[in-house]
Amino acid sequence: MTPKTITPVSHPLRGVVRIPGDKSITHRAVIFSALAFGTSRIDGYLPSDDCLRTVAAFRQMGVAFEEVRHDGAPALRVTGVGRRGLLEPANVIDCGNSGTTMRLLTGLLAGQSFFSVLAGDASLRRRPMRRVIDPLRRMGAEISGRADDHLAPLAIRGRRLSGIDHALPIASAQVKSAILLAGLTASGATRVREPAHSRDHTERMLSHFGQPCLRQDDWIGVQGGGGLTGVDVAVPGDFSSAAFFLVAAAVVEDSEITVDQIGINPTRTGLIDVLRKMGADISLTPRPSLCGEPVAEITVRWRPLRGITVAGDRLPSLIDEFPILCVAAAVADGETVIRGAAELRVKESDRIAAMAEALSAVGVKAEALPDGIRIPGGGRFTGGTCKTHGDHRVAMAMAVAALVATGPITLNDTDSIQTSFPDFMTQLASLTARPE
Ligand code: S3P
Repeated sequence: MTPKTITPVSHPLRGVVRIPGDKSITHRAVIFSALAFGTSRIDGYLPSDDCLRTVAAFRQMGVAFEEVRHDGAPALRVTGVGRRGLLEPANVIDCGNSGTTMRLLTGLLAGQSFFSVLAGDASLRRRPMRRVIDPLRRMGAEISGRADDHLAPLAIRGRRLSGIDHALPIASAQVKSAILLAGLTASGATRVREPAHSRDHTERMLSHFGQPCLRQDDWIGVQGGGGLTGVDVAVPGDFSSAAFFLVAAAVVEDSEITVDQIGINPTRTGLIDVLRKMGADISLTPRPSLCGEPVAEITVRWRPLRGITVAGDRLPSLIDEFPILCVAAAVADGETVIRGAAELRVKESDRIAAMAEALSAVGVKAEALPDGIRIPGGGRFTGGTCKTHGDHRVAMAMAVAALVATGPITLNDTDSIQTSFPDFMTQLASLTARPE
């Protein structure tokens, strides 16, 4: 446990913040380069705890990764083994805190010809896994887990799978991707449909590796048996990491912050639309796309914010931004209500409860709702101590809240930040240290 106290800033925040590679895209780049034939180089990959869990998992299954430099920056060279070339891991695969590692690998390993076990930390062992297991079982998978197969660790006895059509009851990129990964090793076609669009990095990355997805009406699918070809991948900056600095500029008076080379995939950028509706001044300059993902430079200039109601189909596109959106809502003029986001209860923490508790602990009223939150707005963080519940996004959101507090805010534990943005505190410190 590493506590950290952050003091308020008394001057505007100005400058350019360097944002690390996208977490979701790094996971997919690692997975598909491991499954491809030939070598791939991944530039701009995110060397965070979560992504390194995925790398370690494939190392355990015989895939070679080499840290190299390309154009003066760290890159990962991967020697793929093909869809059928993975080896049985000699030990349990530890997914740490990473839901993406566990759920995507469950799909992939269900169709291999060996036995494997996926384990995780206390948070991951509380997260629902039945949503992945059930559709995979329909494909012929043999998977069991704790608590009547609801929870990890998961034991997977690889089987020959058959393609299915599966309509997801809840939009989830992790479940969709698990099924598509299983579909790569299954016979026939595998198709999924979602009630709303979750992030589509798997689909885009499959195309980049030479296997475009099948699309018909609302269905997205893969044909089993195809081969992926090694290719170079440049990972854009993570919008979800940039979000903390975009909101920092939106709440600290007279600030102006720019982030560059950020992925602006529309399935991820709902926060931009919401902040704009709240009155924020945000400008985007398009950059050349990277690995099939749209990219831009983004600048936010401070302007007073007003409260908003957020619900519906766009929620998946800002689901990871809920904690930092709560911080914007707390200082906005007027009430903000976020609904239809019950999924937040089963993220790295129960983010609805964690944020309601954290905001209240530092002087801002917030009411947890079964599927969201109500924040009266117009508040002022007074400072104090709050719990981060081992959740990286809660920790980073509350660090931004501290900038506009009247007194320091102490976060009880910041270790979790390593899972997605190891450099966050250094970047925040250099931005806040800058004179006006
Ligand atoms: C992710 C999907 C999202 C997101 C998570 C990463 C991914 O979850 O919250 O942080 O990389 O596929 P869902 O499976 O609920 O969409």
